[in-house]
Amino acid sequence: MLLNLSLFLLFLTASNITVQAIGVNWGTTSSHPLPPDKVVELLKSNKITKVKLFDADPLVLQALSGSNIGVTVGIPNSMLKSLNSSKKVAESWVHDNVTRYVSSGNSGVRIEYVAVGDEPFQQSYGEQYHPFVIGAAMNIQTALARVSLANQVKVVVPCSYDTFQSESSLPSKGHFRPDLNKTMTELLTFLTKHHSPFFATISPFIISHRNKNISLDFSLFKETKHSRNDGHRTYKNSFDLGYDTLVSALSTAGFPEMDVVVAKIGWPTDGAANATPSAAETFMKGLMDHLHSKSGTPLRPRNPPIETYIFSLLDEDQRSIVNGNFERHWGVFTFDGQAKYNVDLGQGSKNLVNAQYVEYLSSKWCVVNNNKDLSNATASALDACSTADCSALSPGGSCFNISWPANISYAFNNYYQVHDQRADSCDFGGLGLITTVDPSVGNCRFPVELRTSHSESLYGTCLLQWMILLTINTILHDFL
Ligand SMILES: *[C@@H]1O[C@H](CO)[C@@H](O)[C@H](O)[C@H]1NC(C)=O
Ligand SMILES: *[C@@H]1O[C@H](CO)[C@@H](O)[C@H](O)[C@H]1NC(C)=O
Ligand SMILES: *[C@@H]1O[C@H](CO)[C@@H](O)[C@H](O)[C@H]1NC(C)=O
Ligand SMILES: *[C@@H]1O[C@H](CO)[C@@H](O)[C@H](O)[C@H]1NC(C)=O
Ligand SMILES: *[C@@H]1O[C@H](CO)[C@@H](O)[C@H](O)[C@H]1NC(C)=O
Ligand SMILES: *[C@@H]1O[C@H](CO)[C@@H](O)[C@H](O)[C@H]1NC(C)=O
Ligand SMILES: *[C@@H]1O[C@H](CO)[C@@H](O)[C@H](O)[C@H]1NC(C)=O
Repeated sequence: MLLNLSLFLLFLTASNITVQAIGVNWGTTSSHPLPPDKVVELLKSNKITKVKLFDADPLVLQALSGSNIGVTVGIPNSMLKSLNSSKKVAESWVHDNVTRYVSSGNSGVRIEYVAVGDEPFQQSYGEQYHPFVIGAAMNIQTALARVSLANQVKVVVPCSYDTFQSESSLPSKGHFRPDLNKTMTELLTFLTKHHSPFFATISPFIISHRNKNISLDFSLFKETKHSRNDGHRTYKNSFDLGYDTLVSALSTAGFPEMDVVVAKIGWPTDGAANATPSAAETFMKGLMDHLHSKSGTPLRPRNPPIETYIFSLLDEDQRSIVNGNFERHWGVFTFDGQAKYNVDLGQGSKNLVNAQYVEYLSSKWCVVNNNKDLSNATASALDACSTADCSALSPGGSCFNISWPANISYAFNNYYQVHDQRADSCDFGGLGLITTVDPSVGNCRFPVELRTSHSESLYGTCLLQWMILLTINTILHDFL
């Protein structure tokens, strides 16, 4: 108990002296998410002090209780319509997903922001969510004020990289997308009134992925001969260019002083050309050096973003790949919490700490049986890929080079793992074969999934830790 107490005090001190406002996005669109208590350990052991969620999962929030980590809870886009039309719905959302957790003080969850929608203004969504966003944000704000939390918890709206743009890629010509013009004015008025910052995604990766004309060095913060001039200002990297385009858009709209939080920024490691661990490492190191230098950008010198959230903490094998196969590979860590490369996220050393005591399914894989007639195997594999994650097989991916029929085995295995290694999920009309020999080749890893069926016992451990912290708090309270 004494050891626990001193660890707890140490943690409190450590997080108080951490001044760098670097956080991570923690998404859970995975077939087998790493258990919440393991993720919270991962955050703590890497001294990550802020986390942005995409929903308000009770198990995740319980695991974050007492951690002193600053949390952004998220409202999924699908809830925006009902939150716009009903104050009552907003009140119960706030009651269930905010009040309940913040009211327990230090043993509760330190919720700093409610993110209304997940990039609801993305151009590809059209008008699906757009009309409900401001109404939903206002109702959440009112609900927070009713329970006297409006000063503590800020309401924000995460905006995708395509909400702002510029002519001829000149940052000084930045403006919001014309179809959002009215909504942005409403949003900025709302945010200013409540002293909330503007949450925006900056995406050098997607911009370079879509525009082959941008040099990779420029995107990766490397020395480059291809700097861009905008009047007398010189842009040496894609981040500054994107950020200042947003700064100009805010000024054009009449809000030049608006605080900016970079809500999502990162570099994927698979599923596309230039999406590699080494490019991601270079990008992240460049970004961290840039943020630590506090130099800001040409339009906001010495005035860097107030907070920056890395996208993402972990890979998620069920994320939508509408925008590209790289979408499932944004993690600094793999799906099972192992660092893909090393970078100082504020932990003070280059080495990241991996998740500990991760529980896996058995060391078994499903491969194609080479002794069978494989004329229909490709069709079976494509079928498997509609539920399993085959994104590493795409051009530029880590498994793109493995030959036929190894690529069929890759698809079969992912399907088998997603289905918890159930024997009937390695059938494929008699073409599948279960093996205990790891079929991985070179950089192409055939995964073994996480054991998540013990979620009840994990929930138990998590509850136990929670109770320990609660007890410690009571002791502390009596003490001080
Ligand atoms: C949002 O809610 C308000 C209040 O109920 C309603 O008047 C308005 O029509 C709603 N907006 C949309 C786009 O449905
Ligand atoms: C709280 O959030 C969760 C997850 O986002 C959601 O499923 C639930 O409906 C919310 N509660 C209320 C009362 O809206
Ligand atoms: C590519 O970039 C060069 C130099 O920045 C520019 O001259 C050229 O017009 C660009 N081409 C396209 C297709 O954007
Ligand atoms: C909307 O468009 C008008 C006219 O084009 C412009 O003056 C205004 O600044 C724009 N507002 C935003 C938020 O971009
Ligand atoms: C391949 O599929 C076709 C159509 O479903 C079927 O008629 C044929 O018998 C299959 N071939 C083998 C070798 O299983
Ligand atoms: C695939 O093979 C080609 C030629 O051997 C090589 O240049 C390329 O780097 C390989 N790609 C991957 C993703 O391993
Ligand atoms: C496997 O490779 C073969 C030959 O290159 C190709 O026709 C097939 O579509 C690939 N299958 C998958 C699932 O990638």
